[in-house]
Amino acid sequence: MAEIVLRDLVKHFGSAVAVAGVHLQIEDGEFLIMVGPSGCGKTTTLNMISGLETPTSGEIFIGDQVVNDLEPGERGLGMVFQDLALFPHMTVFENIAFGLRVKKTEEAEVERRVRAAADAMHIGALLDKRPSECSGGEAQRVALARTIVNDPSVFLMDEPLSSLDAKLRLDMRTELKHLHHRLRATFVYVTHDQAEAMTMADRIVVMEGGRIEQVGAPLEIYRRPASRFVAGFFGVPTMNFLEGEVAAGAGDGLEFRSTRVVQPLSASTPAAVAGSAATLGVRAEHVRLAPSDDGAGRVTLTEPLGDETLVFFEFGGSAPLVAKVDPDSPLGPGDPVAFDFDRDWCHLFDPESGARLN
Ligand SMILES: Nc1ncnc2c1ncn2[C@@H]1O[C@H](COP(=O)(O)OP(=O)(O)OP(=O)(O)O)[C@@H](O)[C@H]1O
Ligand SMILES: [Mg+2]
Repeated sequence: MAEIVLRDLVKHFGSAVAVAGVHLQIEDGEFLIMVGPSGCGKTTTLNMISGLETPTSGEIFIGDQVVNDLEPGERGLGMVFQDLALFPHMTVFENIAFGLRVKKTEEAEVERRVRAAADAMHIGALLDKRPSECSGGEAQRVALARTIVNDPSVFLMDEPLSSLDAKLRLDMRTELKHLHHRLRATFVYVTHDQAEAMTMADRIVVMEGGRIEQVGAPLEIYRRPASRFVAGFFGVPTMNFLEGEVAAGAGDGLEFRSTRVVQPLSASTPAAVAGSAATLGVRAEHVRLAPSDDGAGRVTLTEPLGDETLVFFEFGGSAPLVAKVDPDSPLGPGDPVAFDFDRDWCHLFDPESGARLN
């Protein structure tokens, strides 16, 4: 049983608050990813689970046991860190075997388990090498194999892919997902990379300023961000934001108004929002653009990505907005365009608190 519960977890470093009250239930066997900008408290939270940091207050349960007073080694967790901390003078085999040797495991058993872990990470051919003779991606796998070999029911990983180049990171994402399926262990994974979180997690925990902003499945978070912060953190390119107000529209519905933009809102928009100042958020894929001689917008830049093209445009001296269009679109810099937004995908946020309004 490897469910983990964090109850009102707080960590102060002197007068600085690193974690400001985290409440979270991590299910047995789930792949949970904590994501957020630098300094938001991800590593500190993970280190309190592992036992490397002592909470200022709050409780940590693993299974139904409070583990606050257990040493890291007594918690039955496997850890993989950003700096892999492989032993340079030992072979890959001995690096992987290290934890088993500490436990005085029988030699035949060591041999069997090291080979199984190495095979699982496709590094069976590297066992006689030293870490310095491995590529970054290979060393990463050695670090994972060294953890797998101890057969933990919980894996804690802190930015384990950050030292890899872009292509290897993508490959390792897929491998980690496969590994999770195969081991059926609980994975708690920390990253500042929203794409890593989106692609691998069963559930994402978004942190900011030592607090949880939102917990949800990747698409839930992408489609229905709970705050402007979350909306801006997920998705490439960054969501478009416009400042304005919500008012009664021409028909029954509400509309969003700002300088030169009047955008009808979906029928599900709460009536209570009428009359409020609001930030409208809309993703590039929900902006519709059409060439139009009397359109309010003007294209400033296009970025072909292959499968689609990003078109940046401005209107009346606005900050540029961005739309995703078909790669065969003829639009180019200087072209006049008309634009509107898909009303079902308009997000409204409180301009002060950033909280979602619709
Ligand atoms: N040992 C420490 N002493 C003092 N302050 C610390 C210590 N460790 C972390 N902090 C502070 O606590 C806050 C949270 O740090 P933490 O390492 O948890 O952030 P993080 O989300 O992991 O960031 P990153 O993405 O940069 O790794 C930061 O403001 C950091 O400066
Ligand atoms: Mg960190």
